[in-house]
Amino acid sequence: MRIAHLSDLHVLDPRSDQGLGVRFVSLGRPIDAGERRKKVLRAFERAKAASVSHFVVSGDLTETGTEAQYEVFADILAEARIDPDRITLVPGNHDLYARENAWREALDGPLRSYRRGAAEGPGKIVDLGAVRIAPMDVTVHQKVTRSIGAVSTEVADGLARRLADPGLAKTPLLLVQHHPPYAHSNAVHQWFDGLRDSARVFRLLLLHAHAFLMHGHLHSAGDRALRTEQDVRIFGAPAVVDDTDGPRVRLYEVRCGVVEAAGFA
Ligand SMILES: [Fe+2]
Repeated sequence: MRIAHLSDLHVLDPRSDQGLGVRFVSLGRPIDAGERRKKVLRAFERAKAASVSHFVVSGDLTETGTEAQYEVFADILAEARIDPDRITLVPGNHDLYARENAWREALDGPLRSYRRGAAEGPGKIVDLGAVRIAPMDVTVHQKVTRSIGAVSTEVADGLARRLADPGLAKTPLLLVQHHPPYAHSNAVHQWFDGLRDSARVFRLLLLHAHAFLMHGHLHSAGDRALRTEQDVRIFGAPAVVDDTDGPRVRLYEVRCGVVEAAGFA
């Protein structure tokens, strides 16, 4: 089974995104809604050409989480003809800047067709046969000047229960969350951009060899090993919004109960 991993799309709405908030969080990146839309479509096309059976999008789907931006994103998914049963969506810090309930409202609204595979409450898993996916919401509502996430006790407990379930232990469980599950080495960086209580997830990964994790947020591809150098189970994807010449879509293969990185499409 082949999985494509896209992240950090930062979709804009061409009709309304000229405000101060968008300009602040887009610092250093052109505010060009058409260009961003094109990059997302191009990335999905590239993934489809690689014959993947599932798509994972690890957050920052939109630039600030306005309803209009979620509508544009839903429209892009429809244009890319993505089967709702073949995509996992989780929110990132950007997807909640507009309102505390922005993600929940998007799942009730523009993204309702994709809700089955999306992050909702703690402990949710989606069974894909060769792999089970745990789409996780580690977002918190905050001002645009910060970009943290947090692992709540409910999310950690829900995950712990699933990972400890002997009935689920024979199939890999792929956690999908926006922030990486470890802290920045610099305390100031961690304060404004880190994942609070990331150790709650990291500990579970150490404890359960059938747990794997895909994340975004860092806007760069990266792998992290756990118990040994060979035990690579944490995977980060580059940001679609930062693509220049062509799309960079991470690919993975699920075989013999293991999720392995398999290059780029
Ligand atoms: Fe991002």
